Amino acid sequence: MAEKNVETTGLLGWVDRRFPLTSMIKEHMSEYYAPKNFNFWYFFGSLALLVLVIQIVTGIFLVMSYKPDARFAFESVEYIMREVPGGWFIRYMHSTGASMFFVVVYLHMLRGLFYGSYRKPRELVWIFGVAIFLCLMGEAFFGYLLPWGQMSYWGAQVIVNLFSAIPFIGPELSLWIRGDYVVSDATLNRFFAFHVIAIPLVLIGLVVAHILALHEVGSNNPDGVEIKQGPKDKYGRPVDGIPFHPYYSVHDMVGVAGFLIVFAAIIFFGPEMGGYFLEYNNFIPADPLKTPPHIAPVWYFTPFYTMLRATTSDFTWVLAAAALIAAVALFIKGRLPGIWRVIVPVILLAVAVLLKVFDAKFWGVVSMGGAVVILFFLPWLDHSPVKSIRYRPNWHKVLYAIFIINFLILGWLGTQPVTPTYTLMGQVGTVIYLAFFLLMPVWSRLGTFKPVPDRVTFHAH
Ligand code: HEM
Repeated sequence: MAEKNVETTGLLGWVDRRFPLTSMIKEHMSEYYAPKNFNFWYFFGSLALLVLVIQIVTGIFLVMSYKPDARFAFESVEYIMREVPGGWFIRYMHSTGASMFFVVVYLHMLRGLFYGSYRKPRELVWIFGVAIFLCLMGEAFFGYLLPWGQMSYWGAQVIVNLFSAIPFIGPELSLWIRGDYVVSDATLNRFFAFHVIAIPLVLIGLVVAHILALHEVGSNNPDGVEIKQGPKDKYGRPVDGIPFHPYYSVHDMVGVAGFLIVFAAIIFFGPEMGGYFLEYNNFIPADPLKTPPHIAPVWYFTPFYTMLRATTSDFTWVLAAAALIAAVALFIKGRLPGIWRVIVPVILLAVAVLLKVFDAKFWGVVSMGGAVVILFFLPWLDHSPVKSIRYRPNWHKVLYAIFIINFLILGWLGTQPVTPTYTLMGQVGTVIYLAFFLLMPVWSRLGTFKPVPDRVTFHAH
């Protein structure tokens, strides 16, 4: 905790006696001791902050000329692109920023996975992070309807229709979300309200909570060593820590420069990114009477979209049979201790029955939603004795590699039209994704772990 009685004079002193300005800067910047062995993976948190600011600022300028009205929305975006001075630049910054937000956040989450940054005492940092991820998905989904192109319209139609698969309340729920029987002006207005004010407010609140939680417990690092538990200097500061400012504030500038080069290159040379960042179908105005032949969400949703599409009726039969066989095998073999010998098979039996009681469409929604929700539980799923991937058995690294490649394949499949082969690949991919997390309590503790050093490993450049 930084010194509260700061000795400042003049204007700053006047402010400090009324507002904790200097003490806040000390606590979160110049006296926040971060491990000295950060690598490039640690750029992505500050880059996520940068993209958040870019999105808010460009969003404010877009709202000045955009019209949230089904009759004018598409034309107002064209007007921004052709008539508003610099409008094309602002819009491409915002559309490219949306995709880059997900690039940065996916890499930021991957870093957390590699170094076990979600483990005790950083569970809340991670939970706020997953909540941020959910908000980002909502923000991107609501924003995508606003240009009122064919993909905006039909994408929203498909996703809102998913809610109708929820047993009992589904049809009323999707009607309530749309505010009409089809996606319409009422839907556009409410999505606009969520996109420009409701979700950004929650997002900003969550980001503040995320960083406050991190600064309460201190940053993790590539070795997964707790610097607060290591040796301290005569002032009680961890010797393996360095002040965030100026060391990491300057270090992060390298990341910012690299990011801005890529960001500018995309905006100036390929803002559509071959249809991945801006889909071609979205340059056609929304037509409620003409469904595009191939509806696919933007790339950052496609891994989850594949899991949704993969959950067919045949697939739920296979899963139900697998649950049934596992229930019988576990009961007969009796390997589980005490009452668990009965409870686990009963749960598996219930799962097998429910899989066939409810429609496959519903289970598709469950697997898509579950793929994100399961991330909340990661701190309690990982039982490995070490945090960082550096000290895990080599075959754990192979599992991580399979997980990443599988996620990329799921993403690619989501951009493709449905074929029997792709559906089968999607089903295998969904099982791999979910099994990685669900079986983590078992596999994460197996193997020979390398000894973790007492101090962080750091070589001066
Ligand atoms: C708007 C989105 C986000 C912003 C602005 C943001 C910002 C930050 C910042 C500035 C840091 C400290 C610097 C760093 O360690 O890189 C950080 C750390 C962290 N973030 Fe995020 N974050 C975001 C989303 C997420 C998400 C989606 C997750 C996970 C689901 C997450 C998990 C973490 C974790 C575990 C740490 C601690 C890392 C460590 O100490 O090793 N963050 N975040």
